[in-house]
Amino acid sequence: MISGVRADAFVESPGMGLKLSVRKAVMHDIPPILDLINGYASKGVMLPRTEFELSEAIRDFTVVTRGTELLGCGALHFYSPTLAEIRSLAVDEHAKTLGVGRRLVEALVREAQDYELDAAFAFTYVVEFFQKVGFHVVERGVLPLKAWKDCVRCPKFQACDEIAVLRVLRPGNWTASQPEIWGQSFGSPDDQFIQIPTPRNL
Ligand SMILES: CC(C)(COP(=O)(O)OP(=O)(O)OC[C@H]1O[C@@H](n2cnc3c(N)ncnc32)[C@H](O)[C@@H]1OP(=O)(O)O)[C@@H](O)C(=O)NCCC(=O)NCCS
Repeated sequence: MISGVRADAFVESPGMGLKLSVRKAVMHDIPPILDLINGYASKGVMLPRTEFELSEAIRDFTVVTRGTELLGCGALHFYSPTLAEIRSLAVDEHAKTLGVGRRLVEALVREAQDYELDAAFAFTYVVEFFQKVGFHVVERGVLPLKAWKDCVRCPKFQACDEIAVLRVLRPGNWTASQPEIWGQSFGSPDDQFIQIPTPRNL
């Protein structure tokens, strides 16, 4: 079932000795997801989210839990019939490096495949992590302008140091559709009003 509330996997976690559950988020997950994301946002590594935004987007979210404890979250946000962003990916400080992040990305990629998407991308500071889970670094120009719409409220808008990473899911389709969809002359009217963040000079 696509996007249903389900437990995708129950796995033994070698590092914690307890079962982890990977499932789609439900409404009672909103407070711990907000705590997790906004905790990282206060350190400048993620964009903050509000309860309103989370309620609107809760169907995008997958979570990893251990019993009643939420250890991590991540969201799959659609941009077009072929492309989605993996975002709001966060693992509790105490559960890092135990495979929670990998399980979240794997579940989100499976969901993207269920929806027949050609590729998934992310903007990130943790490039090595994304490379370990099958993504590669791409030029920003490879992504549609709509992907930058949230950036206007980012404090780093004038000096963006996030890296774009992409995982192609259907290579034949992606290569064939990319130039047509993202070529300059094919931008939608909405795209013309989107400002792109200024890359930081490294
Ligand atoms: C990035 C993050 C999601 C990774 O989650 P995690 O559960 O610690 O990652 P995993 O344990 O599943 O790691 C998977 C692999 O990536 C590696 N990895 C994890 N974090 C890494 C990092 N910061 N730098 C380099 N490699 C990293 C792990 O060593 C592991 O490698 P292995 O398969 O060779 O053992 C987590 O550190 C986090 O929440 N960071 C703060 C918020 C953030 O930056 N989110 C990303 C927004 S796009």
